[in-house]
Amino acid sequence: MKILITGGAGFIGANFIHYWAKQYPQDQIINVDKLTYAGNLENLKELDGSDNYKFYKTDIADFAAINKVIKDEKPDAIVNFAAESHVDRSILGPDEFVKTNIEGTYNLLKSARENGNIRFHHVSTDEVYGSLEMDDPAFNEKTPYDPRSPYSASKAASDHLVMAYFHTFDLPVTISNCSNNYGPYQFPEKLIPLFIANLTDDKKVPLYGDGMNVRDWLYVEDHCRAIDLVLKKGRLGETYCVGGAAERNNREITYKILELMGKGEEMIEFIEDRKGHDRRYAIDFSKIKSELGWEPEVDFDEGMKATIEWYKKNEQWWRNVMTGDYQKYFEENYSKRD
Ligand code: NAD
Ligand code: DAU
Repeated sequence: MKILITGGAGFIGANFIHYWAKQYPQDQIINVDKLTYAGNLENLKELDGSDNYKFYKTDIADFAAINKVIKDEKPDAIVNFAAESHVDRSILGPDEFVKTNIEGTYNLLKSARENGNIRFHHVSTDEVYGSLEMDDPAFNEKTPYDPRSPYSASKAASDHLVMAYFHTFDLPVTISNCSNNYGPYQFPEKLIPLFIANLTDDKKVPLYGDGMNVRDWLYVEDHCRAIDLVLKKGRLGETYCVGGAAERNNREITYKILELMGKGEEMIEFIEDRKGHDRRYAIDFSKIKSELGWEPEVDFDEGMKATIEWYKKNEQWWRNVMTGDYQKYFEENYSKRD
């Protein structure tokens, strides 16, 4: 099989490429990434030079460019991870979110249709369903869309386009809407890696508002397994909600990181809340469990220990991100080859 992955130099995309290369060593992997600030080819350096792996520095918001890659490569399936993914950045500047998440997804759908109705899986988020109160039931596939940030609105729009291509043009699509991922290679602007990096340097950790917002935490490898199953066995035109069965508020996450890193509560700094901050996300994953036999396998405490260990062992990786050195990787290793 030839699989084309967009956004493969980012956090989940890179984990997915490692997962796929290990699981299906005979498959061809095509990675298409614009290399925005979030794209880091150091995440994939083990695959450099492998016959089964190819990288294109391409913007999915540029139809001619992405269509050429798809036309030339003729993949059997496309898995779309490429997106602007950070809520705080979408509040500071929504333009790129509309361009990449909406127009970019549209271009991929259009190209998948024009090049032989290619199987298309779209990676989406639980944020499209809005914000829950503490006693509300968890989101499921029938929960009405109610996005509240420019990020989640752009992801919701992309989900609608994906389903429109299924109903109108019979494009063979699936969507997965998952909760907060954590694990190796996550960019240190997101809660868990940011707090690990700050504490390593004895800097305080900034908790927004009262720190009582709740997220459901999913170990990234469990997410990769879920996408694999949906891609191979999911029903076309269906959405699958994917969760970690680990609802925690941000204070609990912070205390866990402090405990595992041997630091005290004095390292917490409560700061001004995020605008429009969603209070709670929670996922009911019974559909993917009953139809495809998937459930999360990594226990939250174990996943957190493994994550902190990874960031300790790979300190140079996140220090290169902090200094910007990671952006030299393409220049130094790829541009010379072409
Ligand atoms: P990320 O920000 O770490 O990576 C995004 C990748 O997409 C980067 O490599 C970036 O260079 C690339 N990209 C951005 N714009 C592009 C463009 N125009 N063309 C080509 N490539 C482009 O994101 P992530 O956390 O790995 O998330 C991946 C996907 O999963 C996103 O679609 C996100 O909405 C979704 N998601 C993430 C989470 C999470 O907790 N991280 C949870 C649910 C869903
Ligand atoms: O739910 C899935 C979503 O999870 C994905 O779709 C997004 O791409 C991903 O970024 C993530 O969004 P969140 O906004 O939930 O993740 P973030 O790590 O930014 O924040 C997690 C929680 O921690 C949230 O309640 C805000 C809070 N927070 C975050 C940061 C960065 C803080 O209190 N302090 C911080 O410095």
